[in-house]
This record gives sequence, structure tokens and C-alpha cells, in this order.
Amino acid sequence: MSGEKLRVVVLVSGRGSNLQAIIDDGTHPDCPFELCAVISNRPQVAGLERAQKAHISTRVVDHKSYAGREQFDAALKESIDAYQPGLVVLAGFMRILTPAFIDHFHGRLINIHPSLLPEFPGLDTHQRAIAGGAVEHGASVHFVSSILDSGPLIIQARVPVLAGDDAAALAARVLEQEHRILPRAIRWFAEGRLAIDDDRVLLDGKAAL
Ligand code: GRF
Repeated sequence: MSGEKLRVVVLVSGRGSNLQAIIDDGTHPDCPFELCAVISNRPQVAGLERAQKAHISTRVVDHKSYAGREQFDAALKESIDAYQPGLVVLAGFMRILTPAFIDHFHGRLINIHPSLLPEFPGLDTHQRAIAGGAVEHGASVHFVSSILDSGPLIIQARVPVLAGDDAAALAARVLEQEHRILPRAIRWFAEGRLAIDDDRVLLDGKAAL
């Protein structure tokens, strides 16, 4: 590929297994993006350790140190902007973001969510899928809009819900797919193959989903 690689900042809140999938993909020489920083709203989480091991800059912007959501988001925005990213990825980032933050990163902010959106926005998606008798479940990567777990869908992965599944078993099946689709979406973005057309995402000029 010609030209510079897309600069990516990843936001995490915990374990960071999706972050790890991005780190691993970034080690391929043909990868069209580079991970320039990982920012966590919680100190001492495994996601930060994963980044440090991979020699990626880390920062903590602890939401508890700020008077409210606006102040936290302003500090977070400033930390991200310092890295001048072309794309910001929410990978298990567990804070609701303000419209001002989302507007600032419009069109370059994506999220991974563990359900087949628009089904099951919010928390406890696996438990809710089982309780609701779903036969199919999965994960979605989408551009972030100001409505929680909404916004144009880039890619989804489906898994079956099997008899006897508990939330942990189903979560593990979904997580494996998350690790596949999130790096793929980032690559598509980095390769300039995605566009937003109203509420839809276009991949190579055609509806992505
Ligand atoms: C993932 O299931 C993600 O979809 C959800 O939180 C979980 C984070 O896992 N938003 P990890 O931190 O990437 O391991």
C-alpha cells in the first residue's frame, strides 16, 4: 500500500481482548493501520498491560477524577486529539459519551457491540438473548451516533444459540467473532473502502449489510 498508515487510537475499560485482536492484526506488514495509543478510563486494567507489552503508548483518563460527564469527555477528547488519529475505536469502552464528544469524532468513531444490533442494545446482551429465546446471536461493529449502540452498521457476525448455553458460553462464542470482525472493519476504514450514506454504510460503494 502506498502512503501512510491510518493512525488509530483505541479506548478500553477492562480486559482488552478486542484490543489484543487489533494489536495482533497490526503486526502484519501489510496492515493498513497503526495503533498509536490505548486510552483507558480505568487504571490498572489488563487492556493497558496488553498495550504496554506491545510497546504502544498508554494513557489513563479516569472518569472518577472529573466532576461530570462533560468534563471527563473534554479531557478524553484532548488526550485522543494529541495523537491525531484518523480513527477512534471503542473496544470494550464502558462509558456513555456526550453528543459533543461524538460530534467531534463524527465519521471516525466506531464501536464493537456484543449483539446483532438493533437487537439488544445496552448491557447483559447474552443473558437477554437467552432469556428472549433467540436462536441466533452475534456481534456488530458500527459507527457511533448519539443514540446508545446505534449508528450505521459496518459488519456483523452471527452465531447460533445452542441448547444449554449459559451467558458465559454464549459470550465466548460471540467474542471469538468480535476478534475477527473488529480488525476487519478497521482495515476497511483504513483502506478507504467505507462511506456513510444517510443511515447506511457503503463498502466499496455498495450497502455493507
Ligand atoms: C466485548 O464483548 C465488547 O463487545 C463489549 O465488552 C466486551 C469487552 O471485551 N462492549 P474485551 O475488553 O475486548 O475483552
